Amino acid sequence: MTESLDIIYISLSGNTDIFVKRLAHHLTDINQASSDMQLVNVKFVDDFYTVTRPFIAILPTYLKGGNGTDNGFEEILTDKLRHFLAYHDNYRLCQGIIGSGNRNFNKQFALTAKQYAEQFSFPVLDEFELRGNKYDIERITNTIINLKQTN
Ligand SMILES: Cc1cc2nc3c(=O)[nH]c(=O)nc-3n(C[C@H](O)[C@H](O)[C@H](O)COP(=O)(O)O)c2cc1C
Repeated sequence: MTESLDIIYISLSGNTDIFVKRLAHHLTDINQASSDMQLVNVKFVDDFYTVTRPFIAILPTYLKGGNGTDNGFEEILTDKLRHFLAYHDNYRLCQGIIGSGNRNFNKQFALTAKQYAEQFSFPVLDEFELRGNKYDIERITNTIINLKQTN
């Protein structure tokens, strides 16, 4: 097993938090998580700090007045993660972002992760809906393992 990637995310109503914890359990179950792997919900980070280890970001989408097609592209509520990534260039250690949302939002599904990828020049690794399902967990676990092997 190589060093784990940390996971830095934001979760406001708890869906992403549940997903991240299930993902971490799965990584542990298949012996792909080190004991010091950190799961950081920036919602609870009061003092920003400089990240020193590679990580992936996970971000749900909250848009102001989004109608699912052609209006409402403005991020609300989650921009604390954007500020954290910008802080002391923390984004430089981000290996990529996973977006989440609700498919009822059509074209605006998981949109904010794509906006972050463009701003910070890291890839969108994957997407999942709400709390995700077991297929999302398995697929994203494999993505993380593959990333670890290239680090
Ligand atoms: C006010 C509001 C706006 C939302 N806007 C979007 C959106 O534009 N696109 C999308 O895919 N999901 C949207 N969602 C769905 C959330 O991204 C989804 O419920 C997500 O799982 C919330 O994650 P959290 O529980 O970890 O905070 C919105 C939800 C709320 C409450």
